[in-house]
Amino acid sequence: MSVKTLTINDQLISAHENATILDAAREAGIEIPTLCHVEGLSLIGACRLCLVEIGGSPKLQAACVTQVAEGMVVHTQSERLQSYRRMIIELLFAEGNHVCSVCVSNGHCELQDLAIAHGMDHVRFEYQYPERSVDLSHENFGLDHNRCVLCTRCVRVCDEIEGAHTWDLAGRGHNAHVITGMNQPWGDAQSCTSCGKCVNACPTGAIFYRGSTVGEMEHDRAQLEFIMTAQQKRQWVR
Ligand code: SF4
Ligand code: SF4
Ligand code: FES
Repeated sequence: MSVKTLTINDQLISAHENATILDAAREAGIEIPTLCHVEGLSLIGACRLCLVEIGGSPKLQAACVTQVAEGMVVHTQSERLQSYRRMIIELLFAEGNHVCSVCVSNGHCELQDLAIAHGMDHVRFEYQYPERSVDLSHENFGLDHNRCVLCTRCVRVCDEIEGAHTWDLAGRGHNAHVITGMNQPWGDAQSCTSCGKCVNACPTGAIFYRGSTVGEMEHDRAQLEFIMTAQQKRQWVR
């Protein structure tokens, strides 16, 4: 195993050659904001919230999908990065219907936490207010497309951890949305085992337990992490 040495925010750090900048930073106790990333799931680099500056490159890079390199100089905090991150969050709020005060996940939402952490007190872009549906066909769970930020965490956890592959993405650009089964109501998707992993993986109030009312929907990340660690380490194989 080869080790790479780099600096992050002027701190000298050693990391495994296959580590990403995000892994190396977290190992060193340096926090980088993320939204689409979940430890143990495949990397897609979709949300761009983890953008960092790398010495010698004018382009910002996503820390979750960029591998460390020897001598790399990384900065995770700068005015430029802060302003990009805030803009990305504002765009997400402007694009869907994220009215926190009437959301099941109010107070338990990663998007809301990110907005607070980045001082987003207003949105500078025009709200799109698209007309989006709510699917309450599943016996236990509900899906509100209005709250979806297309992070695909549900798609990946259901495919890669549960092995059910109930979720997928359909449409492009403005029309992109998550679908269940063969683009049918979730309750009719026979592949769904009702395991609840997607419910716990969703960062917002898009997937929730039926019957939850405003602020009641809590995500059990600890349960999800436990299952993923057990799968990676094959803890159930004797
Ligand atoms: S409940 Fe489980 S099987 Fe059903 S869609 Fe969610 S992750 Fe997939
Ligand atoms: S439903 Fe939730 S987990 Fe799935 S893509 Fe949308 S926001 Fe992400
Ligand atoms: S967390 Fe890196 S791109 Fe989303």
